[in-house]
Amino acid sequence: MPETPYENYLHADKILSYQKKEDELICPGERDFQGVQQESEFIWTRINLLLKNTSKNLVSGDLNGATRLLEQAAALWSSLTAKCEELLWRLWPNDFLKIRKVIGTGGSTADSPRYRESERLAQSIWGPFADQLKKSSITVLQLLKTEDHDEMRALLKAMMWYDYRVQEFNIAHLYLVFGEIGDRTLGLKGGTTEYLIKRQSQFLFPELWDSINELSKGPATK
Ligand code: HEM
Repeated sequence: MPETPYENYLHADKILSYQKKEDELICPGERDFQGVQQESEFIWTRINLLLKNTSKNLVSGDLNGATRLLEQAAALWSSLTAKCEELLWRLWPNDFLKIRKVIGTGGSTADSPRYRESERLAQSIWGPFADQLKKSSITVLQLLKTEDHDEMRALLKAMMWYDYRVQEFNIAHLYLVFGEIGDRTLGLKGGTTEYLIKRQSQFLFPELWDSINELSKGPATK
């Protein structure tokens, strides 16, 4: 078949060649599993670019721009959550056992450099955000109490929202693990859901959530 500009631009031949051929699939669900994992890697590259640009906007003082990009990155996590839900719904556990044998020990998404980078990039947003707070001579706690500094407050909300969307993915992923291998079986990297639950309870922006605790200790201000 002649290559169209559309196919050329997408490198369609190349990317599709990385999918197993239909006659190589060990069960129909393997197309879904491999597809979801491949799509996830693409999505992490999109999230990571948005996060890099969020930081750039923050450093240059464009708070609205930073908020908009962070919200877009958060929305992409929802699409990853939907993928976990889709697999939980469709992938039969006995089929996943067959797929696991083919993946082999050590083949865990925990080692995805793009996933790891997404975590590092999100955490690195806090530094330039704190610098912006300093410039305005305000602390997070004071920001939580004030009705001024609209742009900074919108950004703080976007950070809560981003953290939540990542945690939401983690919860969907946990249920996927329960539904495919159970809560006591070791993963391919040797972790159980206990490891995942511990990871799940780690906030990306701990100072933000700490400040909300601080706020709740004191009396409400008008
Ligand atoms: C289909 C069944 C799946 C099972 C049974 C499963 C199981 C696990 C387990 C047990 C871990 C802990 C580390 C290990 O020992 O491997 C893990 C980590 C991870 N999985 Fe999955 N997973 C599945 C699918 C997925 C999918 C579809 C995604 C992405 C959309 C994903 C993303 C991740 C990530 C990002 C980690 C690292 C978590 C962290 O260290 O913070 N997994 N998975």
